[in-house]
Parts: sequence; structure tokens; C-alpha cells
Amino acid sequence: MVRRLEPARRLFGRVQLPGDKSISHRMAMLAAIADGDTTLENFSDSADCAATLDCLRRLGVGIRTVASEVVVSGVGRTGLRPSPTPLDAANSGTTIRLLAGVVAGQPFETSLTGDASLRRRPMRRIIEPLRRMGAVVIATEDNFAPLSIRGGRLQGITYEVPMASAQVKSCLLLAGLFATGKTTIIELTPTRDHTERLLGAFGVSVDVQQAACTVVGGVPVRSPGRLRAPGDFSAAAFFIAAGLMLPAADLSIENVGLNPTRTGFLTVLRNAGVEINVINPRFEGGEPVGDLRITPATPRPVRPFQVSGALTANAIDEIPILAVLGAHFAGLDVADAGELRVKESDRLALTASNLRAMGAVVEERPDGLTVSGGQRLRGAAIHTAGDHRIAMAFAVAALVAAGPTTLDDAACVRVSFPDFFTCLEQLQG
Ligand code: S3P
Repeated sequence: MVRRLEPARRLFGRVQLPGDKSISHRMAMLAAIADGDTTLENFSDSADCAATLDCLRRLGVGIRTVASEVVVSGVGRTGLRPSPTPLDAANSGTTIRLLAGVVAGQPFETSLTGDASLRRRPMRRIIEPLRRMGAVVIATEDNFAPLSIRGGRLQGITYEVPMASAQVKSCLLLAGLFATGKTTIIELTPTRDHTERLLGAFGVSVDVQQAACTVVGGVPVRSPGRLRAPGDFSAAAFFIAAGLMLPAADLSIENVGLNPTRTGFLTVLRNAGVEINVINPRFEGGEPVGDLRITPATPRPVRPFQVSGALTANAIDEIPILAVLGAHFAGLDVADAGELRVKESDRLALTASNLRAMGAVVEERPDGLTVSGGQRLRGAAIHTAGDHRIAMAFAVAALVAAGPTTLDDAACVRVSFPDFFTCLEQLQG
């Protein structure tokens, strides 16, 4: 679906965020292997999380959806059943990689696949450690989905994750629940810790020591009864960016998840001179949450954005929108971002080519980008490659561009934020 976007004069009102996608996947998977029913509130309405629910249903888990609540009837650690058909993770890396950890612990064979984008994404990063734990994994070219996993009889391992990846860490922690003994994951670069926090909510203790976290296999997973997902910070980032770029914007973004392993985007902004106050900071379901407000009085960036090392991992999903902001304000330098080449699309290449199409000056390197600042973007034909974050980043760029912009595929926003365009239109009055 091609979509034409016009520049905006103002944005005003309350942003309705979807429930956090990363947390929703994990809540559903843990609820599925827990004893008892769990009601998941504010569950993400994304296509990615729908894929997770669909896969869990195929593994014999009863799931009912009532408005934004999902009730999962947990089958316990030993209650999953073989799926008669391959599990389809669609576009979702989190679904396939985390579920691979779960099915690796089952005494039967499971096939997992996904759409064309997912089938191009590297899986060796989970295949190799799952094999070390004792799973038998067959993959296309030993690296790509479809995957066939015959699990059971796993042995706990100590594993240093070679790349910054919460999906790999989470896959192995989940597999560790079914393994004999301890599974210790060591991270060179810290990544989002939603799995560790949620394991605690399901009664599984996780020993976190600086860069290492350990679970002990065989312990019961107990339903907490009810859990609520905070608003998705990665979705909020697009509206924070839009609010900053439009001088007359006044946006309030409530119930935003503010887990410090996710908010590197705010750190990058703060380092460039943007102070966004958190209103009413609180905890919900073990995750920090707060409200944000962007007004004409919010300071705008005065220095280039600098993103490297641990900050890159922390802001990994926000790099495309940071690049758009960088072009509009004082520039951007991002390093250590090679992982962006193996996301839903090659996000370094697409961010660079689309920004250039809008008139920006961009240098692309194997693991980073430099974007020159202070540029008046002009409307252009944006190529999204079906990548939701590219579509949303350039939809925001279109708000401040001179002339209309077209997105070649706007429907792909359903992957994380189905109501994105409705929300954007409402805020424009
Ligand atoms: C995610 C982890 C990140 C992120 C993705 C969601 C998760 O991927 O980019 O959107 O929910 O664990 P990697 O773990 O591959 O870095």
C-alpha cells in the first residue's frame, strides 16, 4: 500500500502507544509454560506478537483475546505438544529466536519458519549455543530459517554472546529453564533485560552479576495471575522525534516503558542538549514507566548526536529515527552498528539511501553512518523494503520535508504499530 504524506504544521494531543512489543512476546511465552492462567494487559497489537500467539496456540496453548487483554492458559513446563504444522514467525526475529529456545527444551521436533525477510536473517547465533546445550538443529545453509529443532535433554552451559543481542540471551535463558544444571549467559555489551525481569515475575530467580546472568533449570514457572505491558518506548521514539522537529508541537506520551536498557535514545538526545523530563515515574510489572511531554519549551538538540558502543546497542531500534533527527538538527555519528544490517532490512543502507533521496548528505560505513546536520529535507519516494521502522522514521521525516513524500509500503507498520498513521493523523487535528 503506497501512502502519500504531506508536511505537517502542528502536532497536538495525547499519543496512544501500543503495548511494548519486546515485553509482550516474553510475557506470552512465559505464560504459556507457566502453571495456571495469566491475563496479559495492554498486550501489543502488533503483527509480530500475533505471530507469537499463533505459534504458541499451535504448540497446544489455549489463548483467548478480549480487547487488549490476552488470557493465556499455561500448560506448565512439560505441557507443550508437537505442532502438526511448522510454526510461522512471520516477520518477527524475537518470535523465532526466543521460541527456538523454548522448543529446544521439548522432547519432540518443531519446525520454525518466517517470511522472506526473516528467512534471510542469521540464526547461527542461536543454533550454535543450542547445539552446545544438546539440541539437534537443522537449518538452511546452517544459518537460516526454516529451522528444524529436536530438543529435550538439554545441558546447562556458560556462553559468552559474541554480538549484542537480547534475542540470543533470551533464547538461551528460556532453553536454560529446561536444561540440567545452570545456564550462564555472559554479555560483552549489555542488552535489554526484559526476560530477566519477567522471569522474576514468574517466580524463576535469575542471578545477575555484572555481565553475567544465570538460571537454574527444572524450577517451576508460576503464573503471576496478571501482568501489564508498558507502552512501547520504541514506538514513543517516533513521536518524541516528531514533537522535537515541529516547533509548535505539544505532545503528551503516557505510560511509556522507561527501562534503562531501552532508553539510549533519550541519553543520545540528552547528550545533544535535549532534556525531556519524566513525569510521575513509577513501576508497573517490574518495569519502570513514566509519562513524557514534548512542548515548544522543550530544548532542541544543539550538538550532533554521538552513538557508539553500549549506547548503540541500547538505542538499536531507534537509529533510523535518530538519523532523521540528525539530518534536521545538528548531525549524527553512529558507530558499532553493524547489527543494523541484519534487522528486518539492512537499516544502515536504507536509512542512508532514503535520507539522500530527501536531500541529506550521508556517509555510510560497514558499521555506521555520518549524517550532516542542518539540512532542509525535501519530500521524496521512500523505499521501505517492508521494514516497519524505516516506514515510520521516514513518515516522521515527511512531516518537516518540503513537498509530499510517498512510502512504497505503509502497511508494514502493522509489524509493530498498526495504529501509527491513525495516531499521526489525529495529532495533526
Ligand atoms: C529485541 C531485541 C533486539 C531488537 C528487536 C527486539 C528483543 O534485537 O532489535 O527489535 O525483543 O529481544 P537483537 O537481540 O537481535 O539485537
